[in-house]
Amino acid sequence: MKTILISGGGGYLGTYLTQVLLKKNKVIVYDEFFFKWLYANRKKIKFNNRLKILKKDIIDVVPKDFKDVDIVCDLNGIPNDPSSELNKKHTWAINFYGRKKFAEMAKASGVKRYIFNSTCAVYGFNKKTVNEKSKTNPLSTYAKANLKAEKAIFKIKSNKFKVNILRNSTLFGFSQNLRLDLVINIFVNSLINSGNITVDGDGKQWRPFISLTDVSKIYEKIISRDELPSFVINLVAFNSTIRNLAFKIVKYFGLSNKNINFVSKNKDLRNYKTSSKNLKKYLGKIRFTNLNYEISNLIKGIKRYKLKSNETTIRMQFYKRKFFNKT
Ligand SMILES: NC(=O)c1ccc[n+]([C@@H]2O[C@H](COP(=O)([O-])OP(=O)(O)OC[C@H]3O[C@@H](n4cnc5c(N)ncnc54)[C@H](O)[C@@H]3O)[C@@H](O)[C@H]2O)c1
Repeated sequence: MKTILISGGGGYLGTYLTQVLLKKNKVIVYDEFFFKWLYANRKKIKFNNRLKILKKDIIDVVPKDFKDVDIVCDLNGIPNDPSSELNKKHTWAINFYGRKKFAEMAKASGVKRYIFNSTCAVYGFNKKTVNEKSKTNPLSTYAKANLKAEKAIFKIKSNKFKVNILRNSTLFGFSQNLRLDLVINIFVNSLINSGNITVDGDGKQWRPFISLTDVSKIYEKIISRDELPSFVINLVAFNSTIRNLAFKIVKYFGLSNKNINFVSKNKDLRNYKTSSKNLKKYLGKIRFTNLNYEISNLIKGIKRYKLKSNETTIRMQFYKRKFFNKT
């Protein structure tokens, strides 16, 4: 049984991943717990006897936090472009400096593998489909700080300290600590509440996507295979236009395209597609989950946990209040 430390493990992806990894591992969740579900339920979740909590800022990390830790999964920091612009100094302090320091201390403390959760935003917007060999072109503070952290952490890799950089597409799917500011989750929640979806612009903009289920499957694979080398991988299950996604999701609800409002004055300039050469090369074939299955889990979860759009589910709202005390 391995000991895995998940930094940022109390968040949207982390709450899901923690419960997946607890099935076969000891898990230490290191998080300030800005979003409370996992912390509040730490004594109730399955296999909680194998769960340890370190409730603190990543800046305050000390070597003994890595005692007996085999692998670190780093999901920490400001998690999207708009929130990163609210307080650029903070974004650099956490997403770059904080995560770099965390990795350096992990290495010095004998951790064997560091899995760094990054973002496809490091490629910026591109007409061609990008893969791991494509030139990076980070545009936001979020993308710039994450790319700089990636590079600094990849540089300290060695035979004894493997580094895996996972550049995630936009995530979707249910977690008890749900985010309702990610496009698929937003559409599903909006259809539950109002029976309508709003799309910015004509919806012809392309985006890459991957579910929490698939990202967690990939983490499990990496964690179980000690022989895997250091690498950089784009995590993408499919690319879609926002328009086609909206069509598929209204259809799932038994509604028609008339339930989609295209708002032409709200232009969305983000338009890019991602592929991966390294996913298959290093991890073999991944059987990706089905979109309809994920939608049905989202519907069940949102209703069961009575989730709403608020500070806990919309990161911009939370960080606006944290930095400026307003929403
Ligand atoms: N959600 C996506 O679509 C997406 C896409 C690409 C990459 N990512 C990356 O994946 C990771 C996880 O994303 P998420 O959606 O789960 O985000 P999230 O905001 O839900 O989780 C981040 C966690 O980090 C914690 N945290 C923030 N600052 C901290 C600090 N200074 N000290 C200690 N803990 C702190 C928060 O409490 C939170 O639990 C992030 O690094 C994000 O950039 C996410």
